[in-house]
Amino acid sequence: MKNKTVLITGASSGIGLHFSHKFAQAGHNVVLVARSEDKLLSLATELEGNYNIKAHVIKADLAEMGASRVIYEQVTSNDIEVDILINNAGFGLFGEFEQTEIEKEVEMIQVNITALTELSKYFGKEMVNRKNGQILNVASTAAFQPGPLMAVYYATKAYVLSLSEALANEWEEHGVQVMALCPGATKTGFSDTAQLQESKLFQSGVMTVEEVVEEAYKQMAHQKKAVIIPGFKNRMLAGSIRFMPRKMVTKIVRKVQERI
Ligand SMILES: NC(=O)c1ccc[n+]([C@@H]2O[C@H](COP(=O)([O-])OP(=O)(O)OC[C@H]3O[C@@H](n4cnc5c(N)ncnc54)[C@H](OP(=O)(O)O)[C@@H]3O)[C@@H](O)[C@H]2O)c1
Repeated sequence: MKNKTVLITGASSGIGLHFSHKFAQAGHNVVLVARSEDKLLSLATELEGNYNIKAHVIKADLAEMGASRVIYEQVTSNDIEVDILINNAGFGLFGEFEQTEIEKEVEMIQVNITALTELSKYFGKEMVNRKNGQILNVASTAAFQPGPLMAVYYATKAYVLSLSEALANEWEEHGVQVMALCPGATKTGFSDTAQLQESKLFQSGVMTVEEVVEEAYKQMAHQKKAVIIPGFKNRMLAGSIRFMPRKMVTKIVRKVQERI
């Protein structure tokens, strides 16, 4: 991979921040998208200074309808051609469904599903026309089963996995590779946002962003897998639950999700 332009949503922290460093370090230009403009601007200065690449900042709230179109128009009006799209921005929410705020959940669906779908469409169409490109959609190991106490989040990630695998199939013949990255619990700001700090899941060994991004980056270069699951334990879990009754898996997930 040489001298490409990579658009990364959720570049201001966690997995997206590390992807930004990783691609810039490898000599690629980056388009950094998130709400925290100050963080993005100082990241852009750091990346341009350290790696001699171009970093373009787009402040956007992906929970707002139409934000993806604005991002696409800003990119094209700056004559930027996106070779790699990393749909990473996303968040979760812990709680029993009758108690969680519907406004937050609608926002989550907008960010995790709608914006990801729109950006895949806008940039993916151009990639198909050019017969070249990669899209990495950040799903989660949550995508493989229902998730009581985080029901909406798990459902959004199941959508991301399903969409990505279908597009991978459709666009393979057009030279565009679509992948779903499915990390398990990873040390980022995610657990604070989702109020998961005390859940058993996050108390029982999490991966680092470096490990997750390293694995994703390696697999993107190999261009073979449509589904990337970082970590041996996560791969084993995702594989084994396919053979277990769905109701039993759902009960186990609830136990793991519960607070200590
Ligand atoms: N950490 C985990 O355990 C884990 C596991 C599996 C999958 N994932 C997935 O990995 C992805 C990245 O999460 P992370 O763990 O790196 O969490 P994080 O540290 O909280 O980062 C989330 C990123 O998404 C951005 N974002 C959130 N809402 C946004 C909005 N409305 N508009 C634009 N950007 C928004 C945030 O930027 P601003 O706040 O600046 O807008 C931030 O850059 C998510 O899709 C998450 O579901 C995480």
